[in-house]
Amino acid sequence: MTTFGMRPPALEPEATRELLPHDAVVDLAGERAASGTEDVLTALDADLVGLAPVKTRIREIAALLLVDRVRARFGVATGRPNLHMCFTGGPGTGKTTVATRMAELLHRLGHVRKGHLVSVTRDDLVGQYVGHTAPKTREVLKRAMGGVLFIDEAYSLYRAENERDYGVEAIEILLQVMENQREDLVVILAGYRDRMDAFFSSNPGMGSRIAHHIAFPDYSTAELEEIGRLMLASEGYTLSREAEEAFREYIGLRREQPRFANARSVRNAIERARLRHAGRLVEGSDRVGLSELTTLLPSDFRASRVFQGGAT
Ligand SMILES: Nc1ncnc2c1ncn2[C@@H]1O[C@H](COP(=O)(O)OP(=O)(O)OP(=O)(O)O)[C@@H](O)[C@H]1O
Ligand SMILES: [Mg+2]
Repeated sequence: MTTFGMRPPALEPEATRELLPHDAVVDLAGERAASGTEDVLTALDADLVGLAPVKTRIREIAALLLVDRVRARFGVATGRPNLHMCFTGGPGTGKTTVATRMAELLHRLGHVRKGHLVSVTRDDLVGQYVGHTAPKTREVLKRAMGGVLFIDEAYSLYRAENERDYGVEAIEILLQVMENQREDLVVILAGYRDRMDAFFSSNPGMGSRIAHHIAFPDYSTAELEEIGRLMLASEGYTLSREAEEAFREYIGLRREQPRFANARSVRNAIERARLRHAGRLVEGSDRVGLSELTTLLPSDFRASRVFQGGAT
């Protein structure tokens, strides 16, 4: 189980504000600026390559929560919107990263008190023995309260082949908490599209409580290259023109090989290129300048097994 960042409350609680008269006019742009959500949305656009439909949906959710807040100031009653989500997509398509940003956004808009993300898998929720599952699941829920509970490979909670599997118990408890919209918690299920579809067919209760199904497509080669460029820039590396070519070839080949994991594979490739670069410098030169220290060469990529036709 992993927990990411907790922050102090962002917006003034509704209750401390007086209701506005019915003919009042609210500065929506001002409200938006005060919420600080524009920072999160701008960062999302700048830091994440592609994912246009995902970004659109997140903007829509942000707008809904903002408008709900303003409506509440006039005393217009709005139920808490259902924001439980399902992120479907292959490995390394940005699901965990987007979930973390989403937690921050929901916090800034006052939907959750803390805005942290608790990331779990089946083993964190489901016990091995009778009586172990409920306390485990409740403990996780307790930790996630006030934030986002992200359940990776959520389809594995349900094992159709085993009638007595304890996963069902965890699902029941999750359903109760998800149903109770007063709870200060958003649940995000993540997993491959086909397996999540099968999971929802077997667990219609779960499917009906998920309001937002968001698909994370595999990245194109051009997007993967762009992601690589962003990663390299943020770590203070540049590619020689020939190295850029090698990197592009690398991505093209790696995509076709087993266990390809989109942006995660790009990150791993860069990590290994950094190792080769460092080894090359330490072995080969007594004196180095900034340019050598920051420039990756084609050999830093071409030494990879990917070029010999095998996955790394
Ligand atoms: N669109 C993107 N732009 C830039 N970087 C990205 C993008 N998508 C993912 N990354 C980076 O790729 C890495 C993997 O992303 P992330 O862990 O969010 O993927 P995931 O879908 O959760 O993968 P998995 O299914 O393997 O858990 C992270 O370092 C993340 O920052
Ligand atoms: Mg992930």
